[in-house]
Amino acid sequence: MAGVAFKNVTKVYGKDVKAVNDLNLDIRDQEFMVLVGPSGCGKTTALRMIAGLEEATDGDIMIGEVRVNDVPPKDRDIAMVFQNYALYPHMNVYDNIAFGLRLRELKSFFWQISHMADAKRIREDIDSRVKEVARMLDIEKYLARKPKELSGGQRQRVALARAIVRKPKVFLMDEPLSNLDAKLRVQTRAELIRLHRQLGITTVYVTHDQVEAMTMGQRMAIMRDGVLQQCDIPEQVYQFPANKFVAGFIGSPPMNFVPAVIRGGHIDAGDFQLPIPAGNPAAGQEGKAVVLGIRPEEILDAALPSNVVATSENTVQAKVDVLEPLGYEYVAYIAVGKTNLTATISNETKVKENQVFPFLINIERIHLFDAETEVAIR
Ligand SMILES: Nc1ncnc2c1ncn2[C@@H]1O[C@H](COP(=O)(O)OP(=O)(O)O)[C@@H](O)[C@H]1O
Ligand SMILES: [Mg+2]
Repeated sequence: MAGVAFKNVTKVYGKDVKAVNDLNLDIRDQEFMVLVGPSGCGKTTALRMIAGLEEATDGDIMIGEVRVNDVPPKDRDIAMVFQNYALYPHMNVYDNIAFGLRLRELKSFFWQISHMADAKRIREDIDSRVKEVARMLDIEKYLARKPKELSGGQRQRVALARAIVRKPKVFLMDEPLSNLDAKLRVQTRAELIRLHRQLGITTVYVTHDQVEAMTMGQRMAIMRDGVLQQCDIPEQVYQFPANKFVAGFIGSPPMNFVPAVIRGGHIDAGDFQLPIPAGNPAAGQEGKAVVLGIRPEEILDAALPSNVVATSENTVQAKVDVLEPLGYEYVAYIAVGKTNLTATISNETKVKENQVFPFLINIERIHLFDAETEVAIR
């Protein structure tokens, strides 16, 4: 087992494509770390540098205590699962899983062993390990089948089994669920978390899907244009996003952003004013241009019971433009004057489209960002 670390790692493709820019990230031993960000932000490149499939232009890549920049991929003791998992089509499931183990044993076999009894022991050892992971992943029934006789989800489980069976120091997964349908994705997500708990192998998991990152990651590292934006536990990232980009990327529907100015000790958003949250340094910055961030779930139907007390300061009158039923709640598109906001409200609501209703904004949970740097003010 081992942790993984990036120390000031930069990767430049060609002359000037900076895919990863001065990345510093410590992934702890046995941790499940999710690298998340929009397409093209450098996730795959970062992962491939751990695997040794890309060379870092600058900086150090550590696995455990060892700097691995110059260690060939096969000696790094990692296993990688890709989106397009390539199984050997002519081999059955059993042989697909056993293949890597046999290859490795064969190598040491020629070096060290020349006895038939050892060959038998090795064969039995491989057999018990293949069957153990097949049981863990619930694919025992399919061991004799060829990949083409399996569903997409089953094939992905075989690919996982093939990676797990080697008991690597580190697991690298690059969007491994994106070819699965929605239901299977949720199921496999839970299975991967369970497997990680069972095996405790350090895992770096890449996805562009913020829900996957929130639900799977013990910690998540959010990247943008090759630059790490924030790395923390999901709850912390959600509650205290480091900047406007992270705030808008994490959460669905996304956070509302409204340009505003600090004026007279208030946040003046033009169509409405809100008090500055207690202790926020924006209080002393009269005239400062900010971006007010309000999560849809912090805008409440004032007519429904909640633990936010309505005051003249946190109540706005808003016209409900569109009400989208999701069953357990509604997504309401509302307008305060000319300012459009999205709110998620309980299905108990009595608000109706095209009418004006009072809404509460949970002041304790609003966010402020510097209009210029987009860094959170808190
Ligand atoms: N082999 C390559 N040659 C040149 N540019 C590349 C190569 N691989 C990736 N890039 C570029 O590097 C950036 C990061 O890519 P990538 O790591 O694949 O992002 P992600 O996995 O987050 O979508 C993108 O701008 C991409 O176009
Ligand atoms: Mg990628």
